[in-house]
Amino acid sequence: MATEQTYIMIKPDGVQRGLVGQIIQRFEQKGFFLRGMKMMQVEKSHAEKHYADLSSKPFFGDLVDYMCSGPVVCMVWEGKEVVKTGRKIIGATNPLASEPGTIRGDFCIELGRNVIHGSDAVESAQHEIGLWFPEGVTNYEHTAKAWIYE
Ligand code: PPS
Repeated sequence: MATEQTYIMIKPDGVQRGLVGQIIQRFEQKGFFLRGMKMMQVEKSHAEKHYADLSSKPFFGDLVDYMCSGPVVCMVWEGKEVVKTGRKIIGATNPLASEPGTIRGDFCIELGRNVIHGSDAVESAQHEIGLWFPEGVTNYEHTAKAWIYE
């Protein structure tokens, strides 16, 4: 049984537009397990840490302001190849290039209002989970496991 985990964050626009339930539903319906979830207002220094790799980009300041403009919903999802599949569920970074049926393809238009973040690799997922869930996540037995995995 795979134990890969990814960090998924519903950005302030996703929260304000009432998309939290629909986004969670897509991950749940696929068969992934929710291991951690919380809502929080992001401090500027924390957003800067999360996006540290992008600090030299011209959009960095706007991205940090956007992430601090309202509460976000932070989640850890678990399952087989959840990092790669989570990115497919989310869709391409630029919503105008995201396929219909993906979260960004269905719910947004602008790059700077693209509703959701998902880790891009297993290593970055581990790093991001540590950054956003320093207290750790839940570890309970899922009764549905045998109905999702062979
Ligand atoms: S890059 O430039 O290729 O490194 O960036 P990319 O991998 O496409 O995106 C990394 C994150 O930066 C966000 N982004 C932007 N935000 C605001 N404005 C502009 N122009 C912009 N370009 C990229 C993008 O949504 C990615 O955020 P996350 O949260 O990781 O999806």
